Amino acid sequence: MGKPQVLIVDDEEEIRDIVSFFVDSSYPCEVSLACDGEEAIRLLNEKKFELIICDYNMPHKNGGDVYKFLLESGQSCKYVMCSSESPQSFPVFQDSRLMFGYIQKPNLMNGVKEVFQKFKAQSDVSNNNVSMQSYFPISTRLLISLNNMPVNIFLKLSDGKYVKVFSEGSVFDETDFLKYEGKGISQLYALNLSTDVLVQKVQKIIDNISKGTGKTNKAQAVVEIQDLVLSTLKDYGFHEGLAQVVEAQINDTIKICEQDRTLSMLLNKMLKIKGSYISRHSFMLSAVTVALANKVGWNSETTSQKLVMSSLFHDVFLKDDVINEVSRLELKELDEEFINHPQKAAQLLDKIPKVPPDTGRIVMEQHEVGEGAGFPRAIAISETTPLGQLFTFSHYLVDEILDLSSKGEFTMSALEQRMEKVADQSSRYKKFLTLLNELKFF
Ligand SMILES: [Fe+2]
Ligand SMILES: [Fe+2]
Repeated sequence: MGKPQVLIVDDEEEIRDIVSFFVDSSYPCEVSLACDGEEAIRLLNEKKFELIICDYNMPHKNGGDVYKFLLESGQSCKYVMCSSESPQSFPVFQDSRLMFGYIQKPNLMNGVKEVFQKFKAQSDVSNNNVSMQSYFPISTRLLISLNNMPVNIFLKLSDGKYVKVFSEGSVFDETDFLKYEGKGISQLYALNLSTDVLVQKVQKIIDNISKGTGKTNKAQAVVEIQDLVLSTLKDYGFHEGLAQVVEAQINDTIKICEQDRTLSMLLNKMLKIKGSYISRHSFMLSAVTVALANKVGWNSETTSQKLVMSSLFHDVFLKDDVINEVSRLELKELDEEFINHPQKAAQLLDKIPKVPPDTGRIVMEQHEVGEGAGFPRAIAISETTPLGQLFTFSHYLVDEILDLSSKGEFTMSALEQRMEKVADQSSRYKKFLTLLNELKFF
């Protein structure tokens, strides 16, 4: 007899990840996932499931619709409701023939345990004839929520073998996972032996999610990023009007980013390192470039998306111990990691469908300066794209502000002097400088 088929239905990706992690790590079964009632019904039509763990409130058919479908189609699948509300609150469950259990959110761990003890006792799954798998899957998204690897983590190769990709205790960040995301790998593996340690760690994340303080709380992330952008602007003397212009455009782009797994992962990274040079400089840059673009009249939706995404993600491959790119650029010898960061970020962004075309190009041009004194292609500013020029000019502005501030020398006139020097590099920059004055920046 094969492993029992279990279907987990929830519109929140984090909850699907966590419940399937608990189920996978503790019971020999095969897990399928659905993100709403409609997808669940489609899967139930295609395949026979022994058990379904189903949320109630979901878009495109709720948990009640799924239950009704099971009753009406005469299926014998055992139904477990997973919700913060109890089944008694919904009339559809009055016919309780298929109702097998109730997992009350956020007590997922205990709920899953109880349900499966009962499930094991009632089904033919004896502990003897189904041996526990030695590796169990864990979603990369869940792993990223941890601060360091609690156990050894493995990758499953196409020949069925497992290789260790993270050692226990190793510190990592989102960019370490990009190579897996890029290949469409959303699961890595842990050994059964380490289940307990992993469960303890994951339990903390669940507590955070249920308290609404989790890093994975999307709406909160959007608000937090927006606050960061606006407060950094204020800190450096931007006038109110500027903030208003950029607020809506930045907000729209962040919402688009949240719809993509890789981009939302990168946003979470930026939030995690907030206060660091990279994150302050990237958030500020997003506001400055958008404000300038509006002034130039480049204010289409796609343009602001390109500029905001370029700003937020142009330095994601830099480690957050970089102090300031401007001072770094003055070093004679740049290390390989620094030289490669524009290209790595550009290649990543170009692969993501939600990112508008040419965004990678802007990112690629971030360090092309003067008459070919920059990298990686060493081309003159006049050979870069107009949006690339706007971006590099804004990048100078932000870096000069941060550099002056870190030395305690920030005044508007000191900044103006520095920007005049920057503008000497290109006639286009001179035009941008005039616009900055019109924005009453100085
Ligand atoms: Fe950079
Ligand atoms: Fe940068």
